[in-house]
Amino acid sequence: MKVTILPGDGIGPEVSEAAVRVLTDIAPHFGIEVEFDQADIGGAAISRHDDPLPAETLEKCIGSDAVLLGAVGDPQFESLPPSVRPEKGLLRLRAALGGFANLRPSSAFPALIDSSPLKRSVFEGTDLLIVRELLGGLYFGEPREFDRENATAFNTMRYSTSEVERVAKIAFDVARLRKKRVTSVDKANVLETSQLWRETVTRVSVDYPDVELEHLYVDACAMHLVTNPSRFDVILTENLFGDILSDEAAVLTGSLGMLASATIGGSVDLYEPVHGSAPDIAGKGIANPLGAIASIAMLLRHTARNEAAANAIETGIERALELGFRTSDIAGGTDIKTLSTSEMASVVAEHSLDAVHIAASYHAV
Ligand code: NAD
Ligand code: IPM
Ligand code: MN
Repeated sequence: MKVTILPGDGIGPEVSEAAVRVLTDIAPHFGIEVEFDQADIGGAAISRHDDPLPAETLEKCIGSDAVLLGAVGDPQFESLPPSVRPEKGLLRLRAALGGFANLRPSSAFPALIDSSPLKRSVFEGTDLLIVRELLGGLYFGEPREFDRENATAFNTMRYSTSEVERVAKIAFDVARLRKKRVTSVDKANVLETSQLWRETVTRVSVDYPDVELEHLYVDACAMHLVTNPSRFDVILTENLFGDILSDEAAVLTGSLGMLASATIGGSVDLYEPVHGSAPDIAGKGIANPLGAIASIAMLLRHTARNEAAANAIETGIERALELGFRTSDIAGGTDIKTLSTSEMASVVAEHSLDAVHIAASYHAV
């Protein structure tokens, strides 16, 4: 399997190094041979190549089975227009690879339950998956303009039926493997794009009579996420709503640093933690790598189609948390010794391998 690593900016290089470390340690135990390549993206690529997505980076990604991105975004480039910022490198990459369904799972880790900003009784049992449409809506809609002369600016929110259909099918398909419940989130009381979204999702649902469908407005969904998150199974939504709701869902687990993502449906699968480049903690070696490491588990599941390897890493993460290992963001203000980014990667790798060895001795018996 050929995997291209795009470390990017801020804590991106720190968390991607941690994730690579875990993949390198685990893959051989499952007969998976990984060939790594690396390339520049984001602010790092602007500094070196004057382009947030150099042609060479895109070429390497297109020639891979999967891409792992750390994070992009650098305060140094904050005054640039959106069209040339570090973040544009990521958006161009997503468009080029073609993955339109971004899966962002968020669940309560029993060991971390007291790190959640929610009361234990509210958060307990939460296990949801956001399916975010990734290539449409306001992010990519044309025309768009910042007209300084007339002091106006606009973006275009645009969706076609086929764009909604293809992501809706993925949401219903994954719901079948879960609790068989899809909540489609829109703003159909105000937006035409949302009316199209709702009609299309309802039509797709006819082919999935075994999956329950409900519709929620995005403002109400934001409310339900903090008052009763365990009511959700799969949340299907458009690009910008999914961006916002996934940060909200992420932090319920205790930290934005915990959440992983997989982008599927295109020519090459793209894996990224949900968090950004976190300039406030970059370079200190304290970033939480678990979102990036859990993205590796998703890579093993979706791209390598190796459920056992994915489970080993997820078990490694759970064990590390159960044993009380924490990075500072999830330490909850206690005085327990916190680990650095790379120490956390070592602990997870070690306990993922425990899981491998236990499985091996079980088979031997
Ligand atoms: P952010 O996600 O970088 O950080 C928000 C807060 O969460 C910060 O306090 C940060 O320290 C904390 N945090 C995030 N990840 C963490 C981790 N792994 N461990 C511990 N703490 C963590 O969001 P922001 O500050 O709004 O954005 C910073 C930059 O990142 C911006 O340039 C933004 O565009 C970019 N961004 C990139 C991505 C991506 O590359 N996928 C995602 C979101 C934001
Ligand atoms: C995310 C990020 C990106 C997005 C930015 C950096 C372009 O916030 O992956 O959630 O908005 O999609
Ligand atoms: Mn985001």
